Amino acid sequence: AVFKAVHHSVPPSLSGRRPTKISVVGAGHVGMAIAQTILTQDLADVLALVDANPDKLRGEMLDLQHAAAFLPRTTILSSVDFSSTTGSDLCIVTAGARQIPGESRLNLIHRNIIPTVAAKSPECILLIVSNPVDVLTFVAWKLSGFPPNRVIGSGTNLDSSRFRFLIADHLQVNAQDVQAYIIGEHGDSSVALWSSISVGGVALLSCLEKEEINYEKETLENIHKAVVDSAYEVIDLKGYTSWAIGYSAASLARALLRDQRRIHPVSVMAKGMYGISGEVFLSLPAQLGRGGVLGVTNVHLTEEEAQRLRRSAETILEVCQVMWR
Ligand code: NAI
Ligand code: 2OP
Repeated sequence: AVFKAVHHSVPPSLSGRRPTKISVVGAGHVGMAIAQTILTQDLADVLALVDANPDKLRGEMLDLQHAAAFLPRTTILSSVDFSSTTGSDLCIVTAGARQIPGESRLNLIHRNIIPTVAAKSPECILLIVSNPVDVLTFVAWKLSGFPPNRVIGSGTNLDSSRFRFLIADHLQVNAQDVQAYIIGEHGDSSVALWSSISVGGVALLSCLEKEEINYEKETLENIHKAVVDSAYEVIDLKGYTSWAIGYSAASLARALLRDQRRIHPVSVMAKGMYGISGEVFLSLPAQLGRGGVLGVTNVHLTEEEAQRLRRSAETILEVCQVMWR
């Protein structure tokens, strides 16, 4: 034997913590970026990968397993038939056709994998990343039969990160010191919450208004436009987006599984909020913890922001109604 038994060592079953298991469905660019961020950030004891393409799936699993000597200890499994996902705490769905240059997120088709995932892990939190993410989060909620607090779309967590980066770059500050939210649809009709941007505790908009710096407001409008265009730009340049969504999804996994109770703008059931009457998932700043969505912050919206949000809701609702007949 390599090791001699030590009598007072604690059997693994009594060592306390239940292993944390995350499944990533879809081992494409996005799924693998998420998987590798989860590994490097030590967020799971077991990571299960699923993909429809068996060779690609095994290749990706082996490639990650070969990094074991450089990573925290995680068991990496894979299966084409979802068997490896049984008993997951979090299932992240990235399967689907990726956007091609110039194509809107709303044109994408989704294959139906939710019922199998839900049956294998009936207690899990579902995190949907595949596009159109708000529509597919609604579809996942319907197909899983899960309560809405356990079905989340990655939504505008990514758009908000792009927004914070661009504001930080413009002001030459650290993006982590910029509090700024993009809400609504992950996509073309997203809504920037100007009124709640703050940098190091300074409310940005009221500061600009007090100092009558109008041109800065124009710059901010352009920044939102740049956020909306940025996925298209990256896709034009490299064919897909992956690294930022990898970090975005890992930040959500951490908040959920470690019960961080952090606020993230993610796609949640928005019925009854800000005058939205339909059953629609769109992004609002939500508090995330081990129970999934713990609540939605009561952020103040100007009338214009609320109107834009309702328009965003209508756009998503129209597609949901077509897809869910
Ligand atoms: P990709 O084409 O590189 O990977 C998709 C993978 O899904 C492929 O490996 C494919 O074999 C697999 N797949 C397809 N159908 C499957 C099924 N029924 N069961 C199991 N596996 C299946 O695409 P990529 O770039 O990874 O993008 C994936 C999705 O993520 C797209 O819908 C894309 O638009 C979306 N996305 C969403 C973002 C967000 O912020 N919500 C950000 C970036 C991408
Ligand atoms: C993104 O925003 C394409 O939805 C994807 O990067």
